[in-house]
Amino acid sequence: MADAGRRFRAHRLNEGRYATAGMVQVHRRDRYNCRETVRSSHNYDANRDAPALPGRFESKRRMSQAFTPALGREALTPLYDLVIRLLTRERYWRSLLLEQVAPHDGENILDLGCGTGTFAIMLKLRSPGVRILGIDPDLGILQIARKKARRAGVEIEWRQGVASDLAGSPGTFDKAVSSLVFHQVTQREKEAGIAAMVASVRSGGEVHIADYAQQRGYMRQLFRIVQRLDGYENTQANADGALERIFARYDGPTRAAAVVATPTGAISLFRMLVDHPSERQVP
Ligand SMILES: C[S@@+](CC[C@H](N)C(=O)[O-])C[C@H]1O[C@@H](n2cnc3c(N)ncnc32)[C@H](O)[C@@H]1O
Repeated sequence: MADAGRRFRAHRLNEGRYATAGMVQVHRRDRYNCRETVRSSHNYDANRDAPALPGRFESKRRMSQAFTPALGREALTPLYDLVIRLLTRERYWRSLLLEQVAPHDGENILDLGCGTGTFAIMLKLRSPGVRILGIDPDLGILQIARKKARRAGVEIEWRQGVASDLAGSPGTFDKAVSSLVFHQVTQREKEAGIAAMVASVRSGGEVHIADYAQQRGYMRQLFRIVQRLDGYENTQANADGALERIFARYDGPTRAAAVVATPTGAISLFRMLVDHPSERQVP
């Protein structure tokens, strides 16, 4: 596995965003037809051809992938689970999300921005017959997820990647879920990420998102704690209702299915039924 045992040095961009430096990655398609990283290296000379590799490799390209680490700074990632447990009423909102997703054996479920894998593991423990793919751009956090899954005795596929890597797999999943990701990405990534989740799910499937969305009253003040960690620009858009507006484009005027008040702002749960008209059977 290309991402095992290797952590890339990241250099700081703006607002706590990081870019993996001078790194090239070679991808192939996995069984979900998602792009899978199979080889990565630092300071690769893009003008030099990579050595021939066995198998069906789709592309080699220079990649500078920017993302905000789970707690805004890479050094804080080992504390992520503890912080989320203490500052988000985690057990409550995750259990609501689990009820909402209601996994059934045999389903293929995507967890976009899976982080340390807590929710993917919950899904698998609830319904051992589901197949789960966890995607995250952060190799370090995927290693934590892998260890946790091993400890929990569950098998989950983990891949390094972002939403746009789903482009080659339309309609592959029964359900796509994402938690606490969209408040820390740019407006473009919010829109592209939700579009990619919708496209990756078959007609009749579901998209579920739990995140800090519109903040009202004193929740807006508490949300400043998250904004200090993750930066203002991306988070402020959520506080001002960006997720609700994006969802409304697909689903009409959107109200969260549940809004959970937490010590760091309100976490909203959204559910969307996916309908791809082009997939409808003509009688
Ligand atoms: C706050 S953590 C949430 C992790 C996990 N979903 C959870 O519920 O605990 C946000 C995660 O999103 C990932 N991330 C950041 N930018 C992303 C992007 N553009 N696409 C997918 N994941 C992204 C980060 O690496 C991080 O692991």
